[in-house]
Parts: sequence; C-alpha cells; structure tokens
Amino acid sequence: MGWLQLHGLAAGYGGRPVLQDLDAGPIAEGTVTALLGPNGSGKSTLLKTLAGLNPVMRGEVLLDGECLARATPARRAERAMYMPQALPKGVHMTVFESVLVAARSGLQSRRDAAGPALMRDAMAAIADLGIATLASRYLDELSGGQKQLASLAQALVRRPRLLLLDEPLSALDLNYQFHVMDVLRRQTRQHRLITLVVLHDLNIALRHADHALLLHGGAIEAEGLPAEVVTPATLRRVYRVRARVERCPQGQPQVHVDGLAQA
Ligand SMILES: Nc1ncnc2c1ncn2[C@@H]1O[C@H](COP(=O)(O)OP(=O)(O)O)[C@@H](O)[C@H]1O
Ligand SMILES: [Mg+2]
Repeated sequence: MGWLQLHGLAAGYGGRPVLQDLDAGPIAEGTVTALLGPNGSGKSTLLKTLAGLNPVMRGEVLLDGECLARATPARRAERAMYMPQALPKGVHMTVFESVLVAARSGLQSRRDAAGPALMRDAMAAIADLGIATLASRYLDELSGGQKQLASLAQALVRRPRLLLLDEPLSALDLNYQFHVMDVLRRQTRQHRLITLVVLHDLNIALRHADHALLLHGGAIEAEGLPAEVVTPATLRRVYRVRARVERCPQGQPQVHVDGLAQA
C-alpha cells in the first residue's frame, strides 16, 4: 500500500519560505485529494515542490517511504507529473501526437512498449476524457478548455505515481468539470495513483474528492474528509465569509455563502 507524507516541509523562493512546517498525510494511493485555499495560500508552491520544481528547504516529502528530494531528477520526473495552472503556449502538434509523445516519455517499462500499444493507450486517454473528436486537431488551434482537456490526457496517459493538477477545471464548462472529476477518480483508483488537485469550487471538492487539504498563509489549516475540512468555521477563518454547509435533499453537503465576515 503506497502513500504520500509530508514532514515539517518548508519551501519557497529565493531562500524565503512560503510554506512553513507542513505536516500532512499519510495520503493513501487510490485517492483524490482536493488542495484548497485562498489565492496566494501556497497551493501552486506545494505542487511544484512535490514535483521537484521547487527546492525543499526543510523537512521531507516521502512517497512510498522514499524521500523525494533525494531522488534523481529522472526518477522524480518518472514518479511525479505536474500539470501547471498556466498551460504553456500550444505547439503546432495534434492532440493525438502530443498524447503519444507523453505516453512515450512515461515509465521506462512503457517506453519500451511497442508503437501500437502506445498508440492504443494514447487514443484511450483521449477518448476517456471525451475529446476523441479533437484527436486530429492542432493544439494551437484549440479553445482554452479544449487545451486543458488535451493537457489532462497527456498527464493521465503517463500514469505517474503522483499526479499533481493545478486548477485543471479552471477553463472547463459544467459538463466537463463533472466528467473530468469522474475520470480522475476512476483512473486514480484503477491505477492506484495519488492524485492532488487544486480546486476553487468547494462543492466539487465535497462531491468528488476522497480527502482534502486546506492551506492558509502557507500553513495547513485542516486536513481530512472534505466534509470535515469545509465547515462554516474554516470558511470564516480562511476565506473570511459567512457560510453554511447544508445537505441537499439527495444528502450531498453543499456550501452556501451568505456574505463576507466582519473584519
Ligand atoms: N516565482 C515566485 N517567486 C517569488 N514568490 C512567489 C513565486 N511564486 C509564488 N510566489 C509567492 O508565494 C505565495 C504563494 O503563491 P502560490 O503558491 O502561487 O499560491 P496559490 O497557488 O495558492 O494561489 C504568494 O505570496 C506568491 O506571491
Ligand atoms: Mg496557484
């Protein structure tokens, strides 16, 4: 059984820590964790640090008991996949070609796989995200949301151990937001990934995530089941709003914001 754990983690930029003394986990494989928190709370910094793109200043990140900071860059790249918040400008390559390139750069074992197997994997990833009709379109000719879906297909086809997605729903319509969360949860279970996904929509986190981490000012405010983390008290402290969390007639908890909290 694999897991991710943070021990006293500090990380930041230019020697200045943004994240201070984070303890989290163990987060089990096969689970989707919603990474929540206001703007500037350190969500992207945490994902980049887990991906090895930012240095660990203190403490450690353990993935299946292995210290990530001590892993070679090649090993880290194989284990962790980070999809950034701002996607790079689209290159002149079709969606299918880009997902095929991603499949080939995945695990060493799959890099040796025969061409037809990789092509099958690439097409399956594209179809799973519901964008088969875009397979032969060029990335630099897609809408923002379509590009985001193509990037998700590239991330999923690599089947990393640790899947780190920074606001992957930000450009998606209501249908695709639901669809993507569904695919993420299913693939995370099936391939025993550890998936961390930055979400701003707390109702999506309540509905689709197995686990939640709430950041505030570079520290962890709460961790646990989404419904334990998203409460009127944490929403007031962290987002400075007056809110209720109520169950809808189907039993699903939902956040209702009534106004801003008094300063
Ligand atoms: N490249 C950078 N250099 C210096 N400071 C940065 C850099 N990126 C982010 N920060 C700072 O780190 C803090 C956390 O940012 P970030 O992790 O991007 O927050 P979030 O993703 O939660 O909105 C912010 O105060 C931000 O200004
Ligand atoms: Mg961010």
